[in-house]
Amino acid sequence: MQALPDSPLASDAPKAGRGLLRFLTCGSVDDGKSTLIGRLLYDCGNLPDDQLAALERDSRKHGTTGEDLDLALLVDGLEAEREQGITIDVAYRYFSSPRRAFIVADTPGHEQYTRNMATGASNADAAVLLVDARKGLLVQTRRHAYLCSLLGLRHVVVAVNKIDLVADGESVFQQIEADIRAFTASLGFITLAAVPVSARFGDNISTPSSRLPWYTGPTLLGWLETLDITHDRDHSPLRFPVQYVNRPNVDFRGYAGTVSSGVVRAGDPVVVAGSGRQTVVTRIVTADGDLLEARAGQAVTLTLEDEIDIARGDVLSAPDTRPEVADQFAAHLLWMAEEELLPGRPYLMRLGTATVPVRVTSIRHKVDVNSLEHLAARTLHLNEVGFCNLSTPTPVAVDPYTEFPGTGAFILIDRQTNATVGAGMVSFALRRATNVHRQALTVDRVAREQLNAHPAKAIWFTGLSGSGKSTIANALEQRLHAQGIHTYLLDGDNVRHGLNRDLGFTDADRVENIRRVGEVAKLMTDAGLVVLCSFISPFRAERQMVRELFSAGEFVEVFVDTPIEECIQRDPKGLYARAQAGKLKNFTGIDSPYEAPEHPELRIDTQGRTPEQAADQLLGVLGL
Ligand code: ADX
Repeated sequence: MQALPDSPLASDAPKAGRGLLRFLTCGSVDDGKSTLIGRLLYDCGNLPDDQLAALERDSRKHGTTGEDLDLALLVDGLEAEREQGITIDVAYRYFSSPRRAFIVADTPGHEQYTRNMATGASNADAAVLLVDARKGLLVQTRRHAYLCSLLGLRHVVVAVNKIDLVADGESVFQQIEADIRAFTASLGFITLAAVPVSARFGDNISTPSSRLPWYTGPTLLGWLETLDITHDRDHSPLRFPVQYVNRPNVDFRGYAGTVSSGVVRAGDPVVVAGSGRQTVVTRIVTADGDLLEARAGQAVTLTLEDEIDIARGDVLSAPDTRPEVADQFAAHLLWMAEEELLPGRPYLMRLGTATVPVRVTSIRHKVDVNSLEHLAARTLHLNEVGFCNLSTPTPVAVDPYTEFPGTGAFILIDRQTNATVGAGMVSFALRRATNVHRQALTVDRVAREQLNAHPAKAIWFTGLSGSGKSTIANALEQRLHAQGIHTYLLDGDNVRHGLNRDLGFTDADRVENIRRVGEVAKLMTDAGLVVLCSFISPFRAERQMVRELFSAGEFVEVFVDTPIEECIQRDPKGLYARAQAGKLKNFTGIDSPYEAPEHPELRIDTQGRTPEQAADQLLGVLGL
């Protein structure tokens, strides 16, 4: 998950040497997570004296552990801060034992914090999954195990905590271990271990517990110290996403970025994934002088033998191990926003260093994280995981996430709010459409416009139901027709009887309604017509999407601005009355939103103006 922006582990800093292990802790405060982390820090002797003194003082004052140190206090301050709101998503702590250095990503355990877990998993090597021995495997444990697998973690240790509080520790432990093995059998973990521990009393954390003689495996720290992750990073092929082109003067042109996987050496042949152009690395430049080679995690500037076209977002790889270049691919998508996913809506995708528009074209299924069952879905809600098809307007370099966490992970960004709304893990490229090409046609739009003796245009009426869109559009069409202009009127109510008869009024259906109508309007302008489109089209994002299908001047957005009170008053189809009586759901302006245009080409105030006057006003500005 290197693509997630807010993780310090995903920074450009070189990865530390072999000794470092990055791991994630999953579990809730109730499971004893804070105590466990506190215990690891304490046992490793990584606490400065003043912090220890403060801990002793605070334990006497606020602690819940009698005479003992309350290790949870070491980390709970942060936990409390997080409970209150937004201060910290993921806390990173650094500690070391004589055998290894560690970075632990501590993420809040509540369900709604899936997003934090995704951030915490950025670049982590392993996960510690906490289970309360008294409770056994919970929904949340299953969810965390599934997410660990989805986020590409391959080494998991289950810390069965509070083992001192159950009567028959051995059989409880065996049951939990058997349950987790059964649940994770299909999740692809390379290492899965379980350790019975008491974080509070330190059993099996850093020293073997004499109280649990039936357990003969490693301590938790012992497991973390000896976990072998060398194979995980060394052997993947080169991926170098170009962050920017560094051109300080005419004599130097370098490509700056961070090696995302593999190794690059001076003299190596490389290809640009998108164009397929091949060249050779001449130098590996850093602020501290040139290098002979650079490895995953290192930020460097490459110079190349040939001057070829390379821009931010391009990916360099070895010629024989290239990423796929595709405009359609399948990926697991973890939805992180309160607002549901709207298939058909363009979001921005940040994949490696590239940022491109993307749409979810279909949700193949969503995953019930408790049973791992596949369920049918038309949308995704907060914290849901779906396996989706996505499509970009131009091809991008994609890799399967499990092999290339750096170039196979992406985030989705809402274009209106700039918020991160989803995190994705690419599974595979789809190649269905590669044998379909555009056919060049001789009679084109320009020819048709000449024949018609007027330009083609799309005039887009947006506004509430009953605002007067269709009446004004109809009056305008009459006038245009009388002037010999070739027109067509696409109207919401009519299109929904045919082309869009399968669509209702959920947000997702409205997005699809406008997407299809936009495409039809585009075809009709290509046919040389002046197309009048009358649709509530309540969302800015979709009106913008349609606008982007046209070039400047071709698309005219007309906001028929009638206040809702007036529309309710008019209620030409009696729909407002039904919606207000609760008999019609998702009605725009009542229980479904309308986002007024911010910069329409024209705003029509219908109060004190007849539809004919409005049409005349429009005719004046259209210049047809
Ligand atoms: S849009 O929101 O997807 O753009 P569209 O313009 O196609 O809507 O259709 C709106 C028309 O459908 C309204 O003028 C009204 O006659 C009818 N309608 C039926 N149910 C609803 C509803 N829940 N919300 C809005 N319009 C509805």
